[in-house]
This record gives sequence, structure tokens and C-alpha cells, in this order.
Amino acid sequence: MQQLVVLCALLASFWTVSTGSGDWCYQTQFSCQHQCNAPEKWNHANQDCAGRHQSPINIVTRKTLKDERLTPLRFDNYQQIFKGSIKNNGHSVQVGIPHVSTVSGGGLPATYKAVQFHLHWGDNGGPGSEHTIDGEQYPMELHIVHMKSHYTDLITALRDKEGVAVLGFFYENSNSANRKYDPIINTLQSIRATNGSTYLPSISLAQLIPSEQNMTSYYRYKGSLTTPGCTESVVWTVFENPIPLSTEQLKAFSKVQYHDGKPMVKNFRPVQPLNGRQVFYSGGAVILVSSTLLVTALVTALGLSQSN
Ligand SMILES: *[C@@H]1O[C@H](CO)[C@@H](O)[C@H](O)[C@H]1NC(C)=O
Ligand SMILES: *[C@@H]1O[C@H](CO)[C@@H](O)[C@H](O)[C@H]1NC(C)=O
Ligand SMILES: [Zn+2]
Repeated sequence: MQQLVVLCALLASFWTVSTGSGDWCYQTQFSCQHQCNAPEKWNHANQDCAGRHQSPINIVTRKTLKDERLTPLRFDNYQQIFKGSIKNNGHSVQVGIPHVSTVSGGGLPATYKAVQFHLHWGDNGGPGSEHTIDGEQYPMELHIVHMKSHYTDLITALRDKEGVAVLGFFYENSNSANRKYDPIINTLQSIRATNGSTYLPSISLAQLIPSEQNMTSYYRYKGSLTTPGCTESVVWTVFENPIPLSTEQLKAFSKVQYHDGKPMVKNFRPVQPLNGRQVFYSGGAVILVSSTLLVTALVTALGLSQSN
């Protein structure tokens, strides 16, 4: 039995299923009973998955290049409260967003509007992010998918080399629960089964991400969707500062199931080769802001002491 399991795990790297282009799975879904195209075979689901500018990547911080143009992003209507629906799509849980929240600035080539968000996670709070930082994998990663504001659907936007912008956020294990995530986590039990969907009580994008002053440090590179079709039309922004969730909150995601009823865990793609791409880092902005503040504080202090 043990040998059979090992053999099947090995097979996952060689197995190719050619029953329709939509058939793909994560490594953990592959078994002797369920053969499917695991990440190394995603190019059989879509040729683009074998491209040279794929995502996710491991970000080696000492090889990133500081870019002064990567100023803080501008978020518009991120505070807007909406009632969406949340769905188990068989690979993740995904929330559709009314196309009113936009992101711009920070070296982005255009204004992009938010379309949907979804997550990638590990097994019961274990490593599960898609991007890694110096080899470190976080327990979960949020992807807020945006398209250039003049497009009306993602398919069209993906034909544009810079048509899509994804904001990626890491999560970290925290001692206390993050109550802003209750609306999402409370719906997970009712969407355990694939294709299950339910209404999401009022939420805003702003409540799910760090405060604006905690989003000034980020990485930027050109990559792809991290699921088939793997289209290389994504301007990636990966934020350094993680979002805190308690262990219990992280574990709640592992109760969701794949289509065969197995726990939906480790739904991340392994990191892809950089192939000579440069990753940029925003670094400069924080120092600039704080030194301006420092000067202001000093001038104020001097002014006060002189007038006294
Ligand atoms: C900002 O980041 C710091 C350090 O990680 C954290 O202590 C603080 O709670 C964060 N603030 C917000 C509003 O996210
Ligand atoms: C989910 O929905 C899709 C599209 O409607 C369908 O093709 C698929 O068989 C469904 N999967 C399950 C497990 O119900
Ligand atoms: Zn994703």
C-alpha cells in the first residue's frame, strides 16, 4: 500500500490527462483514484502555463531593485460596502466584486478596477501562500484581481499584456482573531461543496487589507495568472506587510472541499522560474515620508522653542 501511494505520487509528475482543456488540479488532488493534470502538467490544459513569465515566484529580497516610482498606491472606493456572493469554484473560494473599487498610481500603467478576490492556503494553517519571500511560504495569500478600467470582462483584459493587475497579500498567524474576517469565515461552512455559493453580508475591500500606511512596502513584477490558462498579462503587486488571522481562522479554510469531497488544502501553484525578470521594490517611499515628518517635527519643535 505504502509503495502504491509513493508510485502514485511519482506518477503525478508524468501523468497527462487529455480530456478537455479545463481539466487541471493541484498536486494534493492527484491520487490513483483521481488522476488529473497536476501543476507540472498544466501546459496540457493550456500551453501558456509553460511560458517564461509565469507566477508565482520566490522573491529574493537582496536581488530586488529599489524603484522610486513605486510610490504608495491610490485606492478609490475601497471603503465602499457591498453585498457579494462567495463561491467554492472547485479550486478556491471566490468573491465577485461590483466594479467600483479602483487602484492606480504606484507605477501601475493604468487605473484598474477590482473584479474578484480569492485565496490560496495550506493544510490547517500550514504553509500555503503562492509567492514566497526568501523561500518563506506564508499560511495564506489573498489575490484581488483587477482589470484596466475600460474593459468590461477579464477575458478581453487578458489579451492586453498589462490588462490585469493583481494585488497579493500574505497572511500571518496571530494570537487574536481578526474580526474583520468574520463575514467571510462564517460563510465557509455553507460552501463546503464545489459550486456551493452563498450571500456574503456587507463587507468592503478596505476591511480585508492592511491600513494604507501599512501598504507602502511592496514588490512589483510582470507575471501571469497562477491557474490555467496561466495568461502572461498580469502586473503583480505583492505587499510586504501581512494580514493577521488566528490559527482557528486559518484552519477554517481547510474545511472547504474539492469536487471529490476531499479537503481543499494546499491549493497553491509551486513557484516558477524568474527567467531573467527583475523584481522591483517600493522601499524608498517609507523613508521619504518619515524623513519629511521628522523635518516637520523638528521645524515645529524649533519654532515652538524659539517662540517660548
Ligand atoms: C501595521 O503594521 C504593524 C506592524 O506590522 C502592526 O502592528 C499594525 O497593527 C498594523 N496596522 C494596521 C492598521 O494594519
Ligand atoms: C460545477 O459547475 C460546473 C459548471 O456549471 C459543472 O460543469 C461541474 O460539473 C459542477 N461540479 C460539481 C462538482 O458539481
Ligand atoms: Zn490566485
